[in-house]
Amino acid sequence: MIKRMVLGLLGLIAAAVVGLLILAYRPAIDPIEPPSATTFSPALVAQGEVLAGAGYCATCHTAKGGAAYAGGYAMKTGFGTIYSTNITPDAATGIGRWSEEAFRRAMRQGVARDGSHLFPAFPYQHFNQVGDDDLKALYAYLMTREPVAAPPREPDIPFPLNRRVLQAGWKLLFFRNDAYGPITGGTPEWNRGAYLAEGLSHCSACHSPRNGLGAEKTGADERYAGAAIDDWYAPPLNAANRAPVAWTKDELFAYLRTGATALHGVAAGPMSPVVHDGLSKLPDADVMAIATYFADRFGAAGERAAPDAALAKVLAASAGGGGPVDHGANLYDAACASCHYNSGPMPLLVRPELGLNSALTAADPSSLIQVILHGVAVDEGLPGAMMPGFAQSLSDTDIAQLASWLRRSRTDQPPWPDLDRQVAVLRTQSESSRSTH
Ligand code: HEC
Ligand code: HEC
Ligand code: HEC
Repeated sequence: MIKRMVLGLLGLIAAAVVGLLILAYRPAIDPIEPPSATTFSPALVAQGEVLAGAGYCATCHTAKGGAAYAGGYAMKTGFGTIYSTNITPDAATGIGRWSEEAFRRAMRQGVARDGSHLFPAFPYQHFNQVGDDDLKALYAYLMTREPVAAPPREPDIPFPLNRRVLQAGWKLLFFRNDAYGPITGGTPEWNRGAYLAEGLSHCSACHSPRNGLGAEKTGADERYAGAAIDDWYAPPLNAANRAPVAWTKDELFAYLRTGATALHGVAAGPMSPVVHDGLSKLPDADVMAIATYFADRFGAAGERAAPDAALAKVLAASAGGGGPVDHGANLYDAACASCHYNSGPMPLLVRPELGLNSALTAADPSSLIQVILHGVAVDEGLPGAMMPGFAQSLSDTDIAQLASWLRRSRTDQPPWPDLDRQVAVLRTQSESSRSTH
């Protein structure tokens, strides 16, 4: 009885293995003699260069300090580290012996020329959206690069996950090999943006969360919902985005074109090469198309506060808790508090508490103004401590507002009259006395 069960189980396992092998089987595509560079028209190669930019091929296929497209760039995944391959036309270690058909199959189905399955760290789930003409141009571009001898490095992934046949199971579960067709649903500009973003530029590879097996989640709310990537966080590119000032088409264009905007900051970390090595190759019209597509995905922007109101709110908060803006208080925080702030019951000698200083209570503000203008040199005050002068970095009005705020916030004395003029006078006097020395 037990013997029969064991045999049955072994039979099942054998059947599963055979099934997987059948499922996984892909024929090798015959190697070719590496084509000579002159077989490709310069126009096609130029088009391929733009597309290689839009697909960040160089970013992933170039190791730090290594030759372009020679591979070896390490990608950390939840299962181990995968290294990109050499996609220069080197016959022995690159794709020099790959026909265009073999290249197309790799891009569309994630299968190498020899028939083995590629890992989804290579974003073929997106590249399968790329049209025939664009793949032809990419092939022409890669086959006309300088061949570099660089053998590919095996992935550091534990057995059995490193077995490429298992990728057939992954594909069965997660890979929809939609026959390529234009993404439709909008204006020609929107469709162009969708084509680039969902295909070559694979924005969702970083901006969509993944499941436990490393596949992008595809639910309507999950797509572009934001995700951790390479110890950075790629924010949502949909209505869940939390940027205080909503993303508009123009803001997106400026961010993707230049890598920074005043209202949304800098594209840093993994987003930096996307902008500067990748999209920078695309003409303005294509970047605008991508902006148009995402402006639509952000969608709910219309329901959010108008940009002007949102900006005013943020600026008021950063200027001091939403209350009225006090320039003097801000200057104190920015220029003085790092040295004059005390938290204990007793101020430290080297961190003078300004409220205790008679420079603030005096009827004449000259000392305070002088200290702010010229500081207190090391040999002038406490041994080993010094206070910098601010004559260069603060204007007359800055110093007047700062002095006036210190007086108001720390003493019950009446305001000093005419501070602006007094600062100006003291500044010119010290300048002329210095020049006559
Ligand atoms: C996000 C990183 C990434 C990007 C972007 C990327 N690749 Fe790759 N690519 C890889 C990795 C990793 C592999 C190796 C996968 C494996 O070993 O299973 C690979 C493998 C390949 C292969 C198979 C080569 C071989 O020897 O088996 C080709 C062809 C290829 N990439 C072409 C491209 C092209 C063309 C582009 C740009 C349009 C591109 N790749 C962009 C990561 C990337
Ligand atoms: C390699 C991963 C990666 C890819 C590919 C990628 N992004 Fe990003 N993206 C990021 C990361 C990480 C950030 C956060 C950058 C930062 O904090 O400076 C980011 C930030 C952004 C932001 C700013 C969001 C905000 O609210 O601040 C926008 C917009 C954006 N990406 C759009 C795109 C578009 C459009 C594409 C495709 C053309 C794309 N990204 C492709 C990783 C990526
Ligand atoms: C790098 C640290 C540092 C910064 C920044 C700094 N101070 Fe000082 N300040 C000191 C030290 C230390 C002293 C004590 C005098 C000494 O021995 O140098 C001092 C002394 C003073 C005094 C007392 C002078 C006296 O005659 O007793 C005043 C008033 C003063 N600072 C105002 C300011 C104001 C206003 C700012 C901002 C514009 C400022 N300080 C920024 C370190 C600093």
